[in-house]
Amino acid sequence: MCGIVGYVGNSSRKAAGYSALDVVVEGLRRLEYRGYDSAGVAVVADGTISSRKKSGKLSNLIAELEANPVPESLTGIGHTRWATHGGPTDRNAHPHLSDGGKLAVIHNGIIENFAELKQELLGKGVTFESETDTEVAAALIGDIFRTRLNGGGGNLTEAMRLACQRLEGAFTLLAVHADQPDVVVAARRNSPLVVGLGDGENFLGSDVSGFIDYTRRAVELGQDQIVTITADTVEITDFFGAPAEGKEYHVDWDPASAEKGGFSSFMEKEINDQPDAVAQTLLGRSDLNGKLTLDEVRIDPELLKQVDKIIVLACGTAAYAGLVAKYAIENWCRIPTEVELAHEFRYRDPIVDSNTLVVSISQSGETMDTLMAVRYAREQGAKTISICNTNGSTIPRESDAVLYTHAGPEIAVASTKAFLAQITAAYLLGLYLAQLRGNIFSGQIKDVLADLNKIPAKIQKILDNAGPLRELARSMKDEKSVLFLGRHVGYPVALEGALKLKEIAYIHAEGFAAGELKHGPIALIDDGQPVFVVVPSPRGRDSLHAKVVSNIQEVRARGARTLVIAEEGDESVKDYAEHVFYVPETPTLLMPLLTTVPLQIFAAELAGAKGYDVDQPRNLAKSVTVE
Ligand code: F6R
Repeated sequence: MCGIVGYVGNSSRKAAGYSALDVVVEGLRRLEYRGYDSAGVAVVADGTISSRKKSGKLSNLIAELEANPVPESLTGIGHTRWATHGGPTDRNAHPHLSDGGKLAVIHNGIIENFAELKQELLGKGVTFESETDTEVAAALIGDIFRTRLNGGGGNLTEAMRLACQRLEGAFTLLAVHADQPDVVVAARRNSPLVVGLGDGENFLGSDVSGFIDYTRRAVELGQDQIVTITADTVEITDFFGAPAEGKEYHVDWDPASAEKGGFSSFMEKEINDQPDAVAQTLLGRSDLNGKLTLDEVRIDPELLKQVDKIIVLACGTAAYAGLVAKYAIENWCRIPTEVELAHEFRYRDPIVDSNTLVVSISQSGETMDTLMAVRYAREQGAKTISICNTNGSTIPRESDAVLYTHAGPEIAVASTKAFLAQITAAYLLGLYLAQLRGNIFSGQIKDVLADLNKIPAKIQKILDNAGPLRELARSMKDEKSVLFLGRHVGYPVALEGALKLKEIAYIHAEGFAAGELKHGPIALIDDGQPVFVVVPSPRGRDSLHAKVVSNIQEVRARGARTLVIAEEGDESVKDYAEHVFYVPETPTLLMPLLTTVPLQIFAAELAGAKGYDVDQPRNLAKSVTVE
């Protein structure tokens, strides 16, 4: 959702040529993937707040700042928005001002009781310019600062605390006040916020990308905390003023890995990062004898042995990684495994107890639906493990254990490398549980690990030979609808292929379990309808491969253009396919790590040919931190 940055520097930073505006705009540039409906900044200088905001992408705000500069300052805040309350207009963009223009506030999340608070403030004569819940929060903080505290000198931290005691919902709020020019105050409830520690400067960000150019020292905040930063101090309390401590950690992402590295888009770069994302996720997690050592999974092995049900919780692409996990875990561990969309889970009174292991999957670690589902599962006594790509994020912190994927920062909104890393981590978890429970022999684990270790080079081969696929994608830029079919682990791959195309190329696309075709969807097949079919290895279970080949024939007989993803050497598909894209040989269970890649490339190339911004597709945001 929205991207948030805050900065305070001291005179040494000024001497070094730093300005709050530069730091904040650079942070927003890195965070723009979180939301890009509008952007805004506010700086404090000469006893006043100067604010600029613009609908549309950050570039519009930068043009506005060039045309209409703000004064030099060492205290500032900035925001990129993903609209919730009120459309993406200049007026609804953040910051919102109150206290006669002396207070500026930016916000991520949703203030659920904003209507009630707005009525109360209207009754006091406060006027509002926007339709946002944020302006209500700004007005509330301003009202408290002015009417209740100013007699005592005014105190932004105290005003924020008192306001937070009245706010319901999920929020990160940042505020600056003209009367306290060297301070940024922030509050957090169920919404992301990280502190960056510098030398003579401190930072705030929705995530570390907001300040990664300046420092690698970060501090995690807990829920319901307020943090007040100056250039030299960071003070954390709860909403009632009791002192609290944050946990400092080192950020191991480097700024260069968050850059495009010569590719046309972050998505292209991230597709190309995948050999590394898989390799890094495997690294150091097993020994030469094939023994898995997942040190981070700090749940008593005896408890893990008692697990009689696994529930995988996730949303979107991460949920498709969960579907792959189900096939692998059930195959290796013989533990019944359900996969559920996190937003559906807690509203249906699910059966969860202390023998249930809940595995959440989330790239960002901040997806609100997933977080709420994990919390619910813990309350019911389940053990919780999170598969996550973002160090220090909320979901792993609130889980009993975490298995980090090491995909590096994923900037493009459409997930690619995180998906493959999630699947890799899920395989490791499945093998680990199987090892612990004695379900499979160590020799078998060693064989699977050997196959997994060959995957990065195989992905590279697909990337290196993608020319014909890219050409096909460009030629299909005017298609109105594309269907995707798969069976077994090919089914989640089909779903993911369809999701990628919808997300970035805005083409109607649907993924089906190939066996479901004749139960309805086959009616969609008409002359020329493009259908991708993900074919399992012919060396696997005979019936599985043969069934999918029959499905290709069925759709082709009804006029479909069949675009087939199959294993190298599989000649059986050639007669029924308009195009075949081969992936290197690998066991069927591991095939999603390969068969997904052509579908990602297809979507990115086609969307690029349509002239769309593949990194920032319309209506979407990278991290969905509202329910
Ligand atoms: C699709 C995509 C989304 C995310 C989903 C969950 O390309 O990126 O469907 O997978 O919003 O996000 P995380 O993994 O951050 O919980």
